[in-house]
Amino acid sequence: MAAPCSPHLKILVAYVTRSGYTRLVAREIATRLRRGGHDVDLADLELCIRHPAQYDVIVLGSAVRFHHHAEVVANFIVENREILSARRTAFFSVDRRAFRSRDADPGGHMERLFERVGWRPQVAVAVAGKLDYREHTWPRRIFMRAASRHRGAPTDTSRDHDLTDWGRVASFTDALTQSPPTTGA
Ligand SMILES: Cc1cc2nc3c(=O)[nH]c(=O)nc-3n(C[C@H](O)[C@H](O)[C@H](O)COP(=O)(O)O)c2cc1C
Repeated sequence: MAAPCSPHLKILVAYVTRSGYTRLVAREIATRLRRGGHDVDLADLELCIRHPAQYDVIVLGSAVRFHHHAEVVANFIVENREILSARRTAFFSVDRRAFRSRDADPGGHMERLFERVGWRPQVAVAVAGKLDYREHTWPRRIFMRAASRHRGAPTDTSRDHDLTDWGRVASFTDALTQSPPTTGA
C-alpha cells in the first residue's frame, strides 16, 4: 500500500550572508524542500522583509563571524519572537568548528544566540562552511592554518576550501517537514 503523502507546507528560508556562502546552503535547503513538494520562499534578510506569520515553517540561517551570528538575524528573531514561537522553526549555523564534529553546536554559538534572543527552534544544525583563507590577511592565515592542522582541516592557504558536510544539510532539511520535528543532523 502507498505511504500517506506529507502535507504541502509553506516555508520561509531566510538567511544573512557576507560572501554568499550562507545563501548557497539556504538554496540547497530550499531546493530539497521544493523537490519534496513544498512551497518555499528564499529571502536575504538584508534585502527584503518577510512576514513570518504567513508561513507554516520558518528556517533561519547565519554564519559565525568573530564568534557571533549576524546581528540582522538576531534582530529579526527579537522582532518576530511571538510568531516564531508559535510556528515550526529551525536554525542553521555556518561555523568552522562543525568540521568533523558530532556536536550539534560545537562552538556554543547557537546556544548563546538563543539565550540572548529568548527563542529556541525545534531543529538546529551547524555546518562547517568555507575555509576562506584568501579573505584574510597573512598573519591571520597563519593562525587559521595552525587551527586547521589541529582539526585535520585543509592547510593549503593559497585557496579556499568547502568544509560543509552536505549530507548533514540534507538530514537537517528532511527533519524540517517531519511531524513532529526531531533533532538536526
Ligand atoms: C572577517 C571574518 C571573520 C570570520 N570569523 C569566523 C569565526 O569566528 N568563526 C567561523 O567559524 N568562521 C568565521 N569566518 C568564516 C565565515 O563565517 C565563513 O567563510 C562563512 O562560510 C561565510 O559566511 P557568509 O555567508 O556570511 O559569507 C570569518 C570570515 C571572515 C571573512
